[in-house]
Amino acid sequence: MKALFLFFLYAAPALLLHAQPVLLPHPRQCEWDKGSFRTDHPYRFENLSGIDVRPVAELLEQNATSQTARLVRCERSTEWGDRPEAYRLHVSRDTVRIAATGEEGFLRAAQTLKQLMQDGRLRCCHISDYPACRWRGLMIDVSRHFFSTDCLKRQIDLMAAVKLNRLHLHLTDAAGWRIEIKRFPRLTEIGAWRTDSLWKTWWNDTPRHYASAQAPGAYGGYYTQQELRELVAYAAQRGITVVPEVEMPAHSEEVLTAYPELSCTHEPYRQADFCPGSEATFQFLQEVLAEVMQVFPSTYIHLGGDEAGKASWADCPRCRERMRQLGLHHVDELQHYFMERMARFLELHGRHMLAWDEVAAPGLPEGTAIMVWRDAATACRAAQLGYEVVMSPGAFCYLDSYQDAPPSQPEAIGGYLPFDKVYGFAPSQFLPDSLSNQLLGIQGNLWTEYVPTQGQLEYMLYPRALALAETGWRGDADKDWTDFRKRAAGVMKLLNEEWQTGAFDLRTEQGERREAGTRISHKARGAQVSYALPYHPRYASTGDDALTDGWRGGWSPSDGRWQGFIKGDRLDVTVDLGRMQTVRRVQCDFMQSCGAEIYYPSSFRVSVSADGAHFTELCDQQCPSQRTVQPAVRTCCWKGSRRRARYVRIQALPAAWGGWVFADEVVVK
Ligand code: ACM
Ligand code: ZN
Repeated sequence: MKALFLFFLYAAPALLLHAQPVLLPHPRQCEWDKGSFRTDHPYRFENLSGIDVRPVAELLEQNATSQTARLVRCERSTEWGDRPEAYRLHVSRDTVRIAATGEEGFLRAAQTLKQLMQDGRLRCCHISDYPACRWRGLMIDVSRHFFSTDCLKRQIDLMAAVKLNRLHLHLTDAAGWRIEIKRFPRLTEIGAWRTDSLWKTWWNDTPRHYASAQAPGAYGGYYTQQELRELVAYAAQRGITVVPEVEMPAHSEEVLTAYPELSCTHEPYRQADFCPGSEATFQFLQEVLAEVMQVFPSTYIHLGGDEAGKASWADCPRCRERMRQLGLHHVDELQHYFMERMARFLELHGRHMLAWDEVAAPGLPEGTAIMVWRDAATACRAAQLGYEVVMSPGAFCYLDSYQDAPPSQPEAIGGYLPFDKVYGFAPSQFLPDSLSNQLLGIQGNLWTEYVPTQGQLEYMLYPRALALAETGWRGDADKDWTDFRKRAAGVMKLLNEEWQTGAFDLRTEQGERREAGTRISHKARGAQVSYALPYHPRYASTGDDALTDGWRGGWSPSDGRWQGFIKGDRLDVTVDLGRMQTVRRVQCDFMQSCGAEIYYPSSFRVSVSADGAHFTELCDQQCPSQRTVQPAVRTCCWKGSRRRARYVRIQALPAAWGGWVFADEVVVK
């Protein structure tokens, strides 16, 4: 007993101290040694690199003395060629040697040293490290909801801790213009303020109104150029480039309310797209970008380019004249002209355009980079055209999606993107090896339509941003979910205890819809289905066999299991059981996801037939429903006394407010 007591008294603290530090992202090579370097014992600090090693010095220089054999030494190394973030760490009981190519490498080394430090000790190790991706980004949409510079600085600190290196700010959109432009003060006088603090309320209230800052209840804000310069410097000290996005030609209702003469119709509140027929548009945007470039030294300036409706262009005399002069036949070509012209303007100033993948077409300046938010085909096309790509596909990188079973979560925009799916994101699934050298990097995007507060922002970002940080640094190879999950849990403890982020608690995770996990057997499985009304090709699932393949859908309407109907009476299918069978139960699950205009059907009818021509109705249920905040699934069911039938027909009418009907399986028992 006494021996056991003595063991705990002396050995237990040492065991605790020797718990392996949590490194995230995991270094390329890492070997642990016994013992640790004590920073609370005397040591010397030497910088032989000829490079500014401030981040390392801030961590280790203040405790250094001159009169001792123990040593922390910074050296320059050229072993990694053009990898500016590469570094090596060698920690023994009496020496810490840090080698790097340049300042960025020392910065990354310092970030690893912080993770290694436990109670003033650095665990002995050899680390050799550099990132797989040059661009490891997060986008924060500060337009839909506004976040203070203090909040953004905190996000920069959190990003830096896991070696993310690009903060993309979505600075302009209908919901608010967020950057001071001295030449055009109405952008912020009018465009930065709106009549409702919650985006959802404001967006659903038509017409959507802007306001002046002084108006009662006005919500909004913007960053002064001075504040942004400070933010840029703050980020740079932490190895992060802030990349501004100024949307064009669409998503610009706020601009076109402040300056209606830049739209085709000159009507405030109505237009989302600039008029590319008007020279004033280009003059305006160039003057705006000139100021943006003075604030942001980023090589890439993001010019949006997504989701342009272009509806007014075809009828606008100025746009038509422009198309005539340029010999253009389609408004898509006019958008290309628009983006190319703006990209060339940036090139004249030594910058490159970055834009969403809609703009990928031949003829943009060579330095253009494409931010892919859609699919593999888009990524390949952009890369084949010779552009570098930042991969941020919605299916893996849109952090505004639900991260757990939607009914358990605060309202989000839709979809379902849990932590393990983000970790599973592999850019190589999108770009074949032959195009992999076009991969500039990866990025997570947090659109903030449903993210009104800093707490919610961090809840949505973490832990999922950790998975992107790991993939961005480590690449696709050697993924080890169990090991990563354990390290992420360690980081989450730190985020919650030291940073009080209120991140999503993985221990409470409910996960994917239970029904989606197993393939079920029932009398209609494998049966032929005839469609009186077609499913939509975009939500075809696996096609004609989707409703009888035994697989039910998960929490995401676009998971490939749900079949979507938008035409006419929506769902009208007949299942052929192949022969006369006894039927006592017919059921079907329907999804509702109001943000995506997917609603429960208003009625559910089941009929049966022996010959496929003469049907007997078994039920015609009215299904009262309400719009739910979170996506959810409901089962509609007929259950009754046994019937003999070969054909089972299911009909479902749309909700009173129209929209889609989504079904996953017709189950017959
Ligand atoms: C986007 O999600 N519209 C880039
Ligand atoms: Zn026009």
